[in-house]
Amino acid sequence: MESSHYLETLRAVINAQLDRLSDYPAAVPPRLKEAVRYSLLLGGKRLRPILTLASAEMAGGNRAEAIPAACALEMIHTYSLIHDDLPAMDNDDLRRGKPTCHVRFGEATAILAGDALLTEAFAAVARTTDASLRAPMTAVLAEAAGVFGMIGGQTDDVIGEKNLSGGSAFEDRLTLLRSIHRRKTGALITAAFRLGGLAASAGEEQLLALETCGEAFGLAFQITDDLLDVTGNEKLLGKRVGKDAALGKLTFPGLLGIDESRAEAARQVEAGRRALDVFADSPAKSAVVEILESTLTRKK
Ligand code: IPE
Ligand code: IPE
Ligand code: MG
Ligand code: MG
Ligand code: MG
Repeated sequence: MESSHYLETLRAVINAQLDRLSDYPAAVPPRLKEAVRYSLLLGGKRLRPILTLASAEMAGGNRAEAIPAACALEMIHTYSLIHDDLPAMDNDDLRRGKPTCHVRFGEATAILAGDALLTEAFAAVARTTDASLRAPMTAVLAEAAGVFGMIGGQTDDVIGEKNLSGGSAFEDRLTLLRSIHRRKTGALITAAFRLGGLAASAGEEQLLALETCGEAFGLAFQITDDLLDVTGNEKLLGKRVGKDAALGKLTFPGLLGIDESRAEAARQVEAGRRALDVFADSPAKSAVVEILESTLTRKK
């Protein structure tokens, strides 16, 4: 199967399942349901859940065991975006090509929609068919989303260079920046690969390779996100550009310049691709490699 077709198939599977998972019954406040579905269903590349399904198949596993975890991850990612856009955080008014959740529904509903997605994500992973996978998958999700992962990274992203004493050396700022990116974005992307490996009951060597790939690709992905904030097109991206500099964020292009940031992203993608050498060739592996490489040229 040609890998882009394979990716489209995975995207359709994810979208259908996210639709089902958020089709709450009438007992759920309609406005909450509307806000959740507005943010979850109307846009988004589905990068993380696709990586989970493709990693599971690349490791010789079965897609069905990976779908609940894949959807849970996309729900957590969407919640992180809703909260990231709030006035107290990045104060953005455009996301996935539409007004942000708080602009459309008000701050209280947006906060609650994020809370709902985070909570329902754990309900989803608890419904993984193979009961022996539920606890390890829950642990991976919680660690990636929590204080050591995304939330820790987001906290340091908000505090930024105030973490450092004034006049800190370039190396200190670069170390802090890598640590922020590894946690705020890399943790959920690494979890995407690890969850796929767990779903496939992969052995230690494969799990380690997936983790190495995830860490490298997660960094490349956020470096590109930083680059697109400088060089990207608002219409194609579906979000505002020029925000990082305006908010004084610590970013790769801000610290290293555009060319060196591009070179670093390319090195990380190459490291991610090399980590996959332990896997036999398959349509799933080609699709993962295609995702890794396309991040260097992505426009959204
Ligand atoms: C945006 O993630 C935020 C980051 C962590 C870089 P994506 O670029 O995956 O956004 P969607 O899901 O496609 O909207
Ligand atoms: C995203 O970082 C990190 C998370 C949402 C966890 P950004 O703040 O750079 O993401 P965008 O650019 O708003 O999508
Ligand atoms: Mg942010
Ligand atoms: Mg933001
Ligand atoms: Mg950004």
